Amino acid sequence: MKQSLETFFKPSSIAVVGASANPTKIGHAALKNILISDYQCKLYPINPDDDEILGLKCYKKLTDIPGPVDLVLISVPSAIVAQIVKDCVAKKVKYIIIITSGFSEIGNHAGEEEIKKIVKGTGIRILGPNTMGYKNASDNLDCSFVFGVPLKGNVALISQSGALGIGMIYLANNEFVGLSKIIGTGNKLDIDDDDLIDVLSKDPNTKVIGLYIEGIKNGRAFMNSIKACNKPVLVVKAGKSKAGARATASHTGSMAGSDAIHGAAIKQAGGIRCRDVVELFDMARALAGQPPAQGNRIGIVTNGGGVGILLSDACEENGLVVPKLSEKTYKKIEKILPPLVKPNNPVDLAGDAGFFRYWSATLALLQDPNIDGIIVASVHAGYARPQEYTGAILKMVHQQKLHQEYKKPILGTWIGGKDFEDLVLDLKAVGVPIYPSSWRTVRAMWSLYQEGERIKRERQKTG
Ligand code: ACO
Repeated sequence: MKQSLETFFKPSSIAVVGASANPTKIGHAALKNILISDYQCKLYPINPDDDEILGLKCYKKLTDIPGPVDLVLISVPSAIVAQIVKDCVAKKVKYIIIITSGFSEIGNHAGEEEIKKIVKGTGIRILGPNTMGYKNASDNLDCSFVFGVPLKGNVALISQSGALGIGMIYLANNEFVGLSKIIGTGNKLDIDDDDLIDVLSKDPNTKVIGLYIEGIKNGRAFMNSIKACNKPVLVVKAGKSKAGARATASHTGSMAGSDAIHGAAIKQAGGIRCRDVVELFDMARALAGQPPAQGNRIGIVTNGGGVGILLSDACEENGLVVPKLSEKTYKKIEKILPPLVKPNNPVDLAGDAGFFRYWSATLALLQDPNIDGIIVASVHAGYARPQEYTGAILKMVHQQKLHQEYKKPILGTWIGGKDFEDLVLDLKAVGVPIYPSSWRTVRAMWSLYQEGERIKRERQKTG
């Protein structure tokens, strides 16, 4: 019987085997990251040559530790990992994170098989090998050897690539997307994406789950975990091209497999496939803060006709529709436009649009039962101050929680230069989803539509 992963992210006691006093060593960084975490637990460095590391009493071997140990991080060369795993079995630990590389990613499958044999029947769960570990931002515990302090939030990330995982922490911070957890799965000897999706679907601090994967070991389990998950699951699956598949094999020892089959399986299970990690964050930001779209009918408000057309094209390409305005909405908007401008969808407010025009049109679309989601776009037209007005609208809508009241997502698009940048940062910092391209905005809206459809299917199933 395998140990449940319930306490994997909240261990009471942790040992680092290969902990080192040498600050250039990975075993030093791993110990230090746990030590400086704002997290209460017993922490034991293990190294045969030291009595104390970073002010902590150091043990020669795992089995010398007097009390129980929940989690062991291993950072010793691959040739001695199996022996340390045997010590873990003797010590009856619950979880192991094998940071060490040099296993299936370089063809050393025998090394992984040996470890599997050692833990067989013990219930011990293993993350890695070849992993960065995890950062549990919700509980302030850093069980990784890498830099990067994530902003706290409700998006959980699972990454098969350690380096990309670290990059994603910085990208998330840049985008003001808060994380609950980030986990590097590495070679997936035991703990796999499906196990983590299952745990995260029950995690009260996680609202959206995002994955970067190179290979899927157990397709059925992967699909079932997404199907059973009551949260949006975003998937970036790499290794689509021949060159990408080759790189995948040497990176984490994975088989990239048929992309078409993976794509269909992710879709069938109810997952949302993203083209890359930037798109993953675009969608995660929208899904974490906005209500899902109840349908695919999108209303667009803009001060620039061109961006309105680009948004409409992108909507159509992504299976969203931009319907004509109802008579009632037409009349409401007609009143606030200059005499020669006629309302349409996209609602072109004209280049000199001010706060009142933006606000009245957005409100009219919120109140229109034929509209399921709204995009408020702003172009730096030069002779007006659209950034000020669009920013004010988006801030107001967000802060008054009008998107929640009307149960419609509202996303922003901005096309402009430096003058827009401060405003965009301000808006992102308070959680407003705003994007610098029509395509990216529409893809984020599409993910909200997918989430709306998933919830509808869920409701139909449960009656
Ligand atoms: N028990 C405990 N400690 C031991 C034992 C033992 N049985 N045997 C040796 N040690 C100690 C060593 O003495 C050393 O401590 P010291 O610095 O005080 O001398 C420490 O363990 C580490 O051993 P080294 O031989 O110095 O190994 P090193 O630290 O150079 O490398 C490592 C080990 C980091 C695990 C390496 O083999 C490796 O795999 N590196 C790559 C890791 C990686 O990138 N993983 C993927 C992450 S994902 C990403 O890319 C971000």
